[in-house]
Amino acid sequence: MSDKLISTELPVQKNPNESSLEDGWHKVATSDAIKNGEALQVDNFATQLVVWRGEDGKVRALDLYCKHMGAALSCGVVDGNGIRCPFHAWKWNEEGNCDDIPYAKKIPTKAVTRSWQVKEESNDIMVMLQKA
Ligand code: FES
Repeated sequence: MSDKLISTELPVQKNPNESSLEDGWHKVATSDAIKNGEALQVDNFATQLVVWRGEDGKVRALDLYCKHMGAALSCGVVDGNGIRCPFHAWKWNEEGNCDDIPYAKKIPTKAVTRSWQVKEESNDIMVMLQKA
């Protein structure tokens, strides 16, 4: 599969390095806002995120917009512990790698997105910001 299948014209993903937020953990939601198998769009962070809870109960976060053609991954479906894009069903894992394309045998080498460190504490979901 050609890397040309990765769009160069994605929706504008905010640059977290330009955020006024300081480095460190930031609350993005309450734990009860995301049940197993659900995804949430987060706009109150240094960049837009999709945060989802896999079937194993663990919460994960990636940049919101799919690196294929820019769909909001929050509109996708949780599949196992990954999230599947609503447009063409590419599946993304918590490391930010596409690990399944239903109609293709090979995965483009550029099918990688930014992943974020997540923790839950006292009913809060927190994401770590570390600017470059
Ligand atoms: S936009 Fe095509 S798989 Fe996400």
